[in-house]
Amino acid sequence: MSQTAQIIINGKTFELPVTVGSADEEAIDISKFRGQSGVITLDRGFKNTGSCESAITFLNGEKGILRYRGYPIEQLADKSTFLEVSYLLIYGELPTSTELESFAKEITSHTLVNEDIKKILDGFPSLAHPMGVLSSLVTSQTAYYPQSLLPNRPEEEINLSIIRLLAKMPTFAAWAYKKKIGHPVIYPNNSLDYCSNFLHMMFALPADSYEVDPVVANALDKLLILHADHEQNCSTSTVRIVGSSQASLWASIAAGINALWGPLHGGANQAVIEMLEGIKADGGDTKKWMAKAKAKDDPFRLMGFGHRVYKNFDPRARIIKKAADDVLNQLGVTDPVLDIAKGLEEEALRDDYFVERKLYPNVDFYSGIIYRALGIPTEMFTVMFALGRLPGWIAQWKEMREKGEPIGRPRQIYVGENERDYVDTAKR
Ligand code: ACO
Repeated sequence: MSQTAQIIINGKTFELPVTVGSADEEAIDISKFRGQSGVITLDRGFKNTGSCESAITFLNGEKGILRYRGYPIEQLADKSTFLEVSYLLIYGELPTSTELESFAKEITSHTLVNEDIKKILDGFPSLAHPMGVLSSLVTSQTAYYPQSLLPNRPEEEINLSIIRLLAKMPTFAAWAYKKKIGHPVIYPNNSLDYCSNFLHMMFALPADSYEVDPVVANALDKLLILHADHEQNCSTSTVRIVGSSQASLWASIAAGINALWGPLHGGANQAVIEMLEGIKADGGDTKKWMAKAKAKDDPFRLMGFGHRVYKNFDPRARIIKKAADDVLNQLGVTDPVLDIAKGLEEEALRDDYFVERKLYPNVDFYSGIIYRALGIPTEMFTVMFALGRLPGWIAQWKEMREKGEPIGRPRQIYVGENERDYVDTAKR
């Protein structure tokens, strides 16, 4: 029997349908409620609002569960590869070995970008943040593939845009970094796998040979898997809402990159390292910084702590903490900042303020430490997150489109002035 919910407003009862998900999570469907009652629901920051029904990622923040298309993140991080996970997210099933091989081959054959991109890069000052450069380069592709602007394109053409996007993102990301450090760009080497090719474009120099360390490539692959999707977060919702206006895939993904940039979202990994460096430079007194994070009148927050949906632990943070230890050991790197991070975590987990508010380390708390050990500079951390999140954004955009979802357009409660008459400047 289908469930319903009742809302009583001024003595009048409204019956609303209840939607139940595959894991028995329930939602009151309010889509027709305004038409019936004239009343809207108000939910600042969409803390308790479902914006869609999605079959891509399942997340239970209370239990610390994360699954892509039903597969637990722990198994995927342990056994899969980033390209395989990308295929899974975008097309719904794990690929057969033939499907995976042809997917990888197709991506490899599109890694090169138009030579004009170098001219676009030249136009940026060297101070440009690589996230801004990345989103601009992604948007620029609308000019190179104008047919991708048409809203109702056949499936094969959309698929080609998806392949191009997956193939070119690492090239754009590495070139944004080369721009930053004033080095010539390095072209893709298509004999390398996805992550190794990215590392090659990041770190090779025209005059020197560069060997990709498999430990580094594998660690990067795992990090990208952990970031690959996270259901309706800020950047993904942005991608879906921009895409819902029938803007192109390139435009929607560029918007997602910009949304990810902020320090309360993907920018947190950069903010965590800057915070840890700051604490170290200040003498390493973690207690002092804990006190600042708790003080009501101090805007400082412990970056990498807390999460909108994880109120128990972030399963990705567990995997990453162990990976940080493994990678640092394998590469023989010691990082004093790791000790500060572990000290802060231990203190926070015992501290009433953090315990009461259910604030635990999130995925970004340790990812920056691994990126540093891999030789990735701090300003590139959020770019790495964007590389990882790309298949998730694509999968969500594709799902939104295939379901023919309506344009995203929330309502509001107006709290400004009511109608008043214009007054001439001289009389004000
Ligand atoms: N340090 C100190 N206090 C915190 C922190 C923190 N990192 N996070 C939340 N709080 C406190 C808030 O001050 C608030 O306290 P109050 O109830 O006394 O007012 C309470 O915990 C709830 O915080 P909200 O901001 O309402 O929680 P929300 O769910 O809106 O925010 C967020 C989640 C943005 C992630 C927040 O925890 C935060 O700012 N964390 C630091 C930034 C960060 O690490 N972001 C990365 C998130 S993961 C990702 O995007 C991949």
